[in-house]
Amino acid sequence: MRTLITGGTLVGPLGATPTDVLVDGETVAALLAPPVPIDPSARGAAGAATAAASGTGRPVVDADRVIDATGKYVIPGGVDVHTHMELPFGGTAASDTFATGSAAAAWGGTTTIVDFAVQRTGEVVEEGLTAWHAKAAGQCAIDYGFHMIMGGVDEAALKAMDSLVAHEGVTSFKLFMAYPGVFFSDDGQILRAMQRAAESGATIMMHAENGLAIDVLVAQALARGDTDPIHHGLTRPPALEGEATHRASVLAQVAGNPPLYFVHLSASEALGVISAARTAGRNVFAETCPQYLYLSLEEHLGAPGFEGARYVASPPLRTNTAPHADDLWRGLRTDDLAVVSTDHCPFCLKEQKELGRGDFSKIPNGIGTVEHRIDLIYQGVVTGKISLQRWVETCATTPARMFGLYPRKGVVAPGSDADIVVYDPNATTTISAATHHMNLDHSAWEGFEIAGKVDTVLSRGSVVVSDGQFHGRAGHGRYVPRGLSQYLR
Ligand code: URP
Ligand code: ZN
Ligand code: ZN
Ligand code: ZN
Repeated sequence: MRTLITGGTLVGPLGATPTDVLVDGETVAALLAPPVPIDPSARGAAGAATAAASGTGRPVVDADRVIDATGKYVIPGGVDVHTHMELPFGGTAASDTFATGSAAAAWGGTTTIVDFAVQRTGEVVEEGLTAWHAKAAGQCAIDYGFHMIMGGVDEAALKAMDSLVAHEGVTSFKLFMAYPGVFFSDDGQILRAMQRAAESGATIMMHAENGLAIDVLVAQALARGDTDPIHHGLTRPPALEGEATHRASVLAQVAGNPPLYFVHLSASEALGVISAARTAGRNVFAETCPQYLYLSLEEHLGAPGFEGARYVASPPLRTNTAPHADDLWRGLRTDDLAVVSTDHCPFCLKEQKELGRGDFSKIPNGIGTVEHRIDLIYQGVVTGKISLQRWVETCATTPARMFGLYPRKGVVAPGSDADIVVYDPNATTTISAATHHMNLDHSAWEGFEIAGKVDTVLSRGSVVVSDGQFHGRAGHGRYVPRGLSQYLR
């Protein structure tokens, strides 16, 4: 099957150029310059051959299917490197399965997810990975990979890190300075995992919040009777994200500088640490997520009654009385923030968020965004906060490079997987739980008006979304083993 995507503007990190894309089977076969008129009088047989050979003439392309992208952007499929499908957490499990969550991702123009397999304290790392393979196999509409959450760094777990890098295509490991008793690692465990990563080249992903201090503040708030959702945010102050970010950065330096990637960065204090480390030439990187760019402690987490529960995630939404969100947009422009991921971890209001009514600390942590990342970050282009190129870079190209998926993913180039999105900048949509495809009974993004719309989505050459219809299927998506980071300084 040969597909020609014609008439569109191809956008990549290097620019936006009118380009037709020829897809053959599952991969991109060629990028074709748009027609250049050639003076017929200058065109003998030799002239025509030269014109074709030098690329100034239009080669005759026969395609089985033509997708008209006139007036639209053609971009690499989104790469969301932070999702939690079916994650058991807070006494329940994230409401999207790999089937529902990967289909929702596709609807939103994301064609690769990297989800987190979990080793809980006391469990065997390899068994955790096997369990996550079992959840995802045959279920995904788009390609997927895994990071590993290390919930218990001990001798066996350290050995497993090497084996996952060498044999399983799992090259990144998330550690938690938060959630004591659940996923928490102490500084000694973190240092040892970092030393191991410095040797193997693996990336350490860090949830940087001082969980021990937070637990004290949480207990004190509950003792005072401060039980509403907003206290989730008030007991996790930005200073404790800044402190943990700094501590992790120092530990990595002592450990021999493994690539260190901070997940879901939310606070100016943490961004300052990243900027300083990067200015010093360190391999320190960070992502942020749409919720920290658009939602706030006061407006959302502080909504009346129990309404704020839908916005409970960690780190929490930050105050709008300080310039956290502005700083994050600046970080995206300057590359101190290299990636936008979602931290997609949806919990329904009914029976899930409800678990924390009367005690904010029991509200399952997480927001569902996997379907909306490409749209939400495109609004930054519309408002002039980031460039068109930066949109593609932060949502597709850099996450692919950061996590060893490039150039198979994250770019539209000959030989790459034909994961392609046709994006219509002239259409508009409004986000609503009534129309989204995530398995979630509410939306943190309810009523958000989006300038732009995902028009057509290809995953490895197959059309999964077009004309407002889903054509994908569970099991089309394959596990993608990943290499080491290709984004080192
Ligand atoms: O609230 C969040 N972020 N839930 C998912 C788990 C995590 O820490 O990423
Ligand atoms: Zn986290
Ligand atoms: Zn209160
Ligand atoms: Zn997460």
